[in-house]
Amino acid sequence: MALIDDIHSNAKKLQKAIILPESLEERNLKAAELIDKSGFGPLMLIGDQDETNAKAKSFGVNLGDAVLIDPATDENYDLYVHKLVELRGKKGVTEDKAKELLKDPLYYAAMMVKLEKADGYVSGAIHATGDVLRPALQIIKTAPGVKTVSSFFIMILPESSPYHATREVLFFADCAVVPQPNSDQLSDIAVSTAKSFKALMPAQEPKVAMLSFSTMGSAKHEDPDKVIEAVKLVKEKAPGLMVDGEMQADAALMASVAGKKCPDSKVGGQANILVFPDLEAGNIGYKLVERLAGAAAIGPVVQGLSRPVNDLSRGCSVQDIVDTVAVTACQAAD
Ligand code: ACO
Repeated sequence: MALIDDIHSNAKKLQKAIILPESLEERNLKAAELIDKSGFGPLMLIGDQDETNAKAKSFGVNLGDAVLIDPATDENYDLYVHKLVELRGKKGVTEDKAKELLKDPLYYAAMMVKLEKADGYVSGAIHATGDVLRPALQIIKTAPGVKTVSSFFIMILPESSPYHATREVLFFADCAVVPQPNSDQLSDIAVSTAKSFKALMPAQEPKVAMLSFSTMGSAKHEDPDKVIEAVKLVKEKAPGLMVDGEMQADAALMASVAGKKCPDSKVGGQANILVFPDLEAGNIGYKLVERLAGAAAIGPVVQGLSRPVNDLSRGCSVQDIVDTVAVTACQAAD
């Protein structure tokens, strides 16, 4: 797919240092070898030197130029302890607690990224989403001007889809981070996703549909009211962005339905970004499209952090890890 090829070649140009902190895990080690061979830049691993090398050997992996950071011998270890206390002291992190937290490679990776020893990290092959994101939310924090960290999936439709010819790629948000966004958070998700879309697909205009079970007031309920308020806020936060709603998914995607339900909408029937009203709808929605329609789902790609961190599904393949590292390197360029 052209988008993935573009992301890979961009990652090669950027040469960003991305960490795979789950460094004893077979798929991560195999991905490290592929990334090293692909020339994406200095791939980094965190772990005991002997143990990691032995694991790599047992999987037949040649780590090449991948950089292995062993906290036991890392010259920056004391700096990370000191800075972690400085950053999280008000939240009760003492020196002992900081040392305890830094035994977790995800916290170690978050400190390396915070102190610019690396450009981002990718994890989640053996950790739940919350465990991957919490160190990033606590330490790396949001980008300037951003309040809400959220995520999107790049959904690549198969040739068999009736939408393949006009919209091979759609972005779905938020399917992984904010469980019950209020209207302000929902508007942040929409604005961030449109920005991410423009960064990855510069040739296309983002058209954002804010989804609901109601289209333009067809149902009266507090849930669509939340979406209506979010649309208003998006228009204030990003004037000029093509956004509309509240609308049902068919009105967002099908011109024939939009013609009946929201004939005046410039987004109806043409949306390429679907913003779901909450995490349950978003997470269920992307998995249904992935499984029933056979779409490729790349993500969740996390947006809104000051430096990129991405989560993997625990069912991810080696290629998913390589692709996610490439996306993360591209985000690090922003
Ligand atoms: N944006 C910005 N900051 C945030 C956000 C956010 N969305 N969420 C939490 N924070 C901040 C908090 O303000 C807090 O800051 P502080 O400690 O400096 O005061 C810090 O992050 C940690 O917050 P906690 O409340 O301790 O973290 P929480 O336990 O709420 O975890 C998390 C946040 C992990 C994102 C949670 O909302 C979550 O579990 N989301 C769902 C993840 C999930 O299970 N997704 C579905 C599976 S993914 C898949 O299927 C692909």
